[in-house]
Amino acid sequence: MLVISSVALTWALLFVGSASSKPVEAVSSTTSASSGDQASWTAPSAFPSGVFKHWRVKPGNYSQEPRPAVTKFGSGGYFSQSIDQPYPLQTGPPASNAVYPDKKEQAPHKNYAKEIEANITSLIANNNTQQIACQRCISGLRLGQKLAKAAPHHVPGVLIDLCTRYNFTSTKSGLSQAEVCKREYSGATLGSSLTQLLSYADLNGENPSDGLYLCANVVGTSSGCKNPAPIDLNADGFLDKWFGGKSKRSAIRKRSESVRNKKHMRLLHFSDIHVDPRFFVGGEAQCTSGQCCRSDSFNSTVAHAPPSPPGSYLPAANISEKAVYWGNYKCDAPWPLAVSAMQSVKHLNKGEDVDMSVYTGDMVTHDSDWHLSNDLVTYTQQAIFDTMKHFLGNGPVFSAIGNHDTAPADQSSPNSLPDKGPRDQFSYDWDNLKRLFEAEGWFSHEEAKQVSRHYGGYSISPRKGLRVITLNSDFWYKGNRYNFIQTSNPDHGGILRYLTDELEAAEQRRERVWIVGHVLTGWDGSNGLSDPTNLFYQIVDHYAPRTIAHIFFGHTHEDQFNVFYANNGTQRTSVNAKAVSFMAPSITPGSNVNSAVRIYTVDPETYEVHDYDQFYTQVNDFPGLPESQHGPIWTHLYSAREAYGNFSQSAVSGAVANGTVKLTDQGYWPAQAPLNATFWSALTDEMEKRSELVTQFRHFTGRDSPKSPGCDSGCIAANICYMRSGNAILGQQCPTGAHYASVQS
Ligand SMILES: *[C@@H]1O[C@H](CO)[C@@H](O)[C@H](O)[C@H]1NC(C)=O
Ligand SMILES: *[C@@H]1O[C@H](CO)[C@@H](O)[C@H](O)[C@H]1NC(C)=O
Ligand SMILES: *[C@@H]1O[C@H](CO)[C@@H](O)[C@H](O)[C@H]1NC(C)=O
Ligand SMILES: *[C@@H]1O[C@H](CO)[C@@H](O)[C@H](O)[C@H]1NC(C)=O
Ligand SMILES: *[C@@H]1O[C@H](CO)[C@@H](O)[C@H](O)[C@H]1NC(C)=O
Ligand SMILES: *[C@@H]1O[C@H](CO)[C@@H](O)[C@H](O)[C@H]1NC(C)=O
Ligand SMILES: *[C@@H]1O[C@H](CO)[C@@H](O)[C@H](O)[C@H]1NC(C)=O
Ligand SMILES: *[C@@H]1O[C@H](CO)[C@@H](O)[C@H](O)[C@H]1NC(C)=O
Ligand SMILES: *[C@@H]1O[C@H](CO)[C@@H](O)[C@H](O)[C@H]1NC(C)=O
Ligand SMILES: *[C@@H]1O[C@H](CO)[C@@H](O)[C@H](O)[C@H]1NC(C)=O
Repeated sequence: MLVISSVALTWALLFVGSASSKPVEAVSSTTSASSGDQASWTAPSAFPSGVFKHWRVKPGNYSQEPRPAVTKFGSGGYFSQSIDQPYPLQTGPPASNAVYPDKKEQAPHKNYAKEIEANITSLIANNNTQQIACQRCISGLRLGQKLAKAAPHHVPGVLIDLCTRYNFTSTKSGLSQAEVCKREYSGATLGSSLTQLLSYADLNGENPSDGLYLCANVVGTSSGCKNPAPIDLNADGFLDKWFGGKSKRSAIRKRSESVRNKKHMRLLHFSDIHVDPRFFVGGEAQCTSGQCCRSDSFNSTVAHAPPSPPGSYLPAANISEKAVYWGNYKCDAPWPLAVSAMQSVKHLNKGEDVDMSVYTGDMVTHDSDWHLSNDLVTYTQQAIFDTMKHFLGNGPVFSAIGNHDTAPADQSSPNSLPDKGPRDQFSYDWDNLKRLFEAEGWFSHEEAKQVSRHYGGYSISPRKGLRVITLNSDFWYKGNRYNFIQTSNPDHGGILRYLTDELEAAEQRRERVWIVGHVLTGWDGSNGLSDPTNLFYQIVDHYAPRTIAHIFFGHTHEDQFNVFYANNGTQRTSVNAKAVSFMAPSITPGSNVNSAVRIYTVDPETYEVHDYDQFYTQVNDFPGLPESQHGPIWTHLYSAREAYGNFSQSAVSGAVANGTVKLTDQGYWPAQAPLNATFWSALTDEMEKRSELVTQFRHFTGRDSPKSPGCDSGCIAANICYMRSGNAILGQQCPTGAHYASVQS
């Protein structure tokens, strides 16, 4: 239910009819609550002053996105205009962003690149040889490797030529194939990074694992290659060695009665802001050209090309939906929306600062590879962390790096690469995070040091008995091409070793741990890689529930959860439930979801979640906001306990989980019991009996988005299966179908 705060309402009434195009200043507003936690907050229309000190384009005009002037660390000056100007858009990152592998061999002659290109071309053309498609793909990689080792700087040129000849890329942006190929495969965009892969991949032997992965995932399914079978982690005592022969200690410690009445903590969980600093008000918001709400966006159904000259607008008849000041469903968050979400938190939390926050990654906008750069990443991190600092109290904000928070996107390379250049290629990023976590006052200097060593990850104890271990999840993400080298090692980045060592130490210290990351390990298995997510699953089984209290992820933009079970998920029943991961909904509305933030109530001794409140704003209302003289209305969507705590159908003799959890007389989850893995697993059992709960869940997944598709009985069964799949192998065994795994379109 919408509860507009009375002060804001008064302002709104005062201004109705005064059709000014300027946001009104200082609409004061307070939290109001109808009952319990059903808070709602109406943002003022004015951009909150004081978040940014300097501006390129000042807020105060609904026809333009405000552009903060952000200082570039170390240089003393601002980031260059090309980072955030809506037009003209940059055609590629600076050449200095390119990082090549060292030259390993002498090229036999000056025209080696031409020879290799000719041989690859004939390999593609002469497909009447005996070699099957996948083997031809691997032969192609071997040719590329020769060049990458002998003349690394020549690889991008060959890639651009081949791309242009064989139409590797889409031309939906309105650019020619040749132009897209040039932008996409130049050294500074993807060219040098692909050169590294060619140089470092192990392509020896008949069916080289690295080669199969590279062909199946980077070249694509057309290569005819399939991913190799998952590694058997029990072979050669791998898992025994992994855990140092230590056995599981599964008993969970009893909490003392004295804390029963202690005030619960409030923990903010937010994710996937994806701020778009080049958002172009008036541009095409329902585009077919890639990133929408940009000066170069267009929809091919109603327009044949982007507006010309850059910065002009298509005629109204050639626009399907106009980009508006507060944002649109197919676009990343403009600054006013991103800031409004963070501004809303204190108001939604009854006027009090949250005790701490978890941000599960992705700050940088989704974009064509050539519009990304190291500077765009550091600009976004600086501006967003400063905004968090402004609105979220003393923090700390425990932030995980997302797959979009690097340039090129999705990429993180292991510290074990042979050459120094590539080994250090992301240091600019990890070092910037280290600096910011300390500068915002969240981490001590000593604590921050870990961030550089662990790809943006760290292990920190912010309160007695609690430890937060944050990981760079790119190392299990399918989109990270560096995962396709050294594939015989399920942990080539070393992050799961780090996690295990930190968990072991935490267990010794009797701490409870929250694991924080970006990319989820499970659900339908479309994001994670089998081997690292399988190993992660075994680690969770080893240390939960005694030491691992919860796992926090983001990435999908959707409100989801995953239950992890004992014994490799062989019996996924509630008695075997050991841990739960929460996927937070996104702040970006892309694609077709409503912006949302979540606040948990957490037990201050066990650090288990007792409940959470999900808040959202209806993006569908945004086009009308300038006239209504207020900003987005942030509203309570549901509380987890209220929405899901009724176990009337699966309860046997008033209890669930084989009688281990005694319900209330009304069949409700006991008021004192946490919403732990047993709860979420029992919920999936209840869902099997009451399919309307899955319908409800899907409605929450997209946060009441009018664009969310329905879910038939096949889809309902699939969703229950996804909830019970904490790793990629399990997720891939679930049924699939259109719109089953996601409400986005
Ligand atoms: C608002 O921005 C538009 C587009 O840049 C500009 O044409 C207009 O003059 C601005 N209006 C005001 C009041 O600044
Ligand atoms: C390219 O093909 C020619 C003709 O088959 C062959 O002689 C040459 O060795 C090949 N070059 C490389 C680098 O494999
Ligand atoms: C060989 O290439 C042609 C033309 O590209 C294609 O039609 C055919 O299916 C290919 N054959 C094999 C065995 O890949
Ligand atoms: C690439 O696209 C162009 C233009 O659409 C077309 O003429 C050409 O045949 C395509 N080439 C290949 C190899 O598919
Ligand atoms: C867990 O089960 C999956 C099949 O669901 C199997 O591929 C994997 O090897 C098993 N892992 C372990 C450690 O037993
Ligand atoms: C393009 O515009 C048409 C007509 O307005 C619309 O039906 C379609 O959904 C739009 N395409 C996308 C991808 O949004
Ligand atoms: C706009 O739409 C009209 C009518 O469909 C069409 O004739 C014209 O070419 C379009 N203009 C652009 C720039 O796409
Ligand atoms: C969850 O809480 C219930 C009730 O306190 C308890 O019986 C169960 O063992 C807990 N489950 C886990 C995985 O900690
Ligand atoms: C719990 O759910 C059942 C449907 O299975 C419903 O009949 C009952 O009224 C619900 N209980 C409460 C207290 O809402
Ligand atoms: C729980 O109950 C089910 C069904 O009655 C039974 O098959 C299973 O063995 C029980 N599990 C445990 C751990 O008691």
